[in-house]
Amino acid sequence: MARARELGESVLGTTSPNPAVGAVVLAADGTPVGEGATAAPGGPHAEVTALAQAGERARGGTAVVTLEPCAHTGRTGPCADALLAAGIVRVVVAVPEPTELAGGGADRLRAAGVDVELGVEQAEAEAGALSGWLTGVREQRPFVVWKVAATLDGRVAAADGTSRWITGDQARAAVHRLRATCDAVVVGSGTALADDPQLTVRDADGRNLARQPLRVVVDRRDRLPATARVLDDAAPTHVSRAANPATLLAELFDRDVRRVLLEGGPTLTAAFLRDGLVDEAVVHLAPTFLGAGPSLVGDLGISTISDALSLSLVDVTPLGGDVQIRLRPTRHTGGHQHADGRS
Ligand SMILES: NC(=O)c1ccc[n+]([C@@H]2O[C@H](COP(=O)([O-])OP(=O)(O)OC[C@H]3O[C@@H](n4cnc5c(N)ncnc54)[C@H](OP(=O)(O)O)[C@@H]3O)[C@@H](O)[C@H]2O)c1
Repeated sequence: MARARELGESVLGTTSPNPAVGAVVLAADGTPVGEGATAAPGGPHAEVTALAQAGERARGGTAVVTLEPCAHTGRTGPCADALLAAGIVRVVVAVPEPTELAGGGADRLRAAGVDVELGVEQAEAEAGALSGWLTGVREQRPFVVWKVAATLDGRVAAADGTSRWITGDQARAAVHRLRATCDAVVVGSGTALADDPQLTVRDADGRNLARQPLRVVVDRRDRLPATARVLDDAAPTHVSRAANPATLLAELFDRDVRRVLLEGGPTLTAAFLRDGLVDEAVVHLAPTFLGAGPSLVGDLGISTISDALSLSLVDVTPLGGDVQIRLRPTRHTGGHQHADGRS
């Protein structure tokens, strides 16, 4: 299942509006004989690719899949039928299919005599490559990852507005990898005007990759100049006049966006945080101080410590001389909770 999750993660950012699923096929003796991940919309699902790779060796074997195989004919045929045709006798699934439209795969397989196990390492799969798609199903909005680069004293730019480059090469390369896993990259007009970013995914040599997320600038007062780099032809761009983050996310959801990278700045980020619309935070901290300049998040309307917005630590990763901290919101109120239960 860990390998199936990895396969799903490898195609994150290329499958929306479909889920990034991973699948592994084992032969009857347990040898891995096929691997697959969801192709771009209209292409084969993970199970179909893994079965094709396994060929006859799938007969009598097991399929391990991060999402319940579908039972409906969409742009491709039902995966449950493909598993039956290949002679699979056991199917191990992490996440049960949450939509009625594609549901019923496990029932169809069981009715044909296949041993189906649902909910195996479900939490890990839900927190991984499927998180964007599941947020879409449950909340009809994209999953939001907020990324920010700051000094150790939490500054995202100097007092004179200069902000390049707060972090080093490795952290910046990580940002490009993160962008590549998203369907859209969002900034506010303040950032677009101050930094004139191109907001594309680039390789180590600075070349734009072939597949690019949608670039989005939220510019309610039409301040973005026609010469802005974000409007060049390197990638598609959407300039939004959405009055609030929820409206913006609804606009993006309608464009099949399931995973958004919010890249600031502090004002727009504060609006997302206030509205509870950040699902994951990726904070890059550089071992430097500026002592002045904008802070990584603007006014959250908090005036007392017991109202502090608490996030939970997911992991900490050194990136060259910088540090990456990943966090997820803690959905509780009433002050900061220490790991040992003190508050
Ligand atoms: N180090 C980093 O990671 C990083 C990342 C980004 C930015 N920055 C720095 O941040 C600074 C810019 O800060 P900023 O706060 O002005 O940038 P910002 O948050 O990108 O832009 C603020 C503007 O966004 C617009 N906006 C659209 N929807 C909004 C909403 N729902 N709520 C609030 N505002 C909304 C508003 O302008 P309209 O009313 O015109 O729409 C607002 O003035 C620059 O110095 C930049 O270098 C640093």
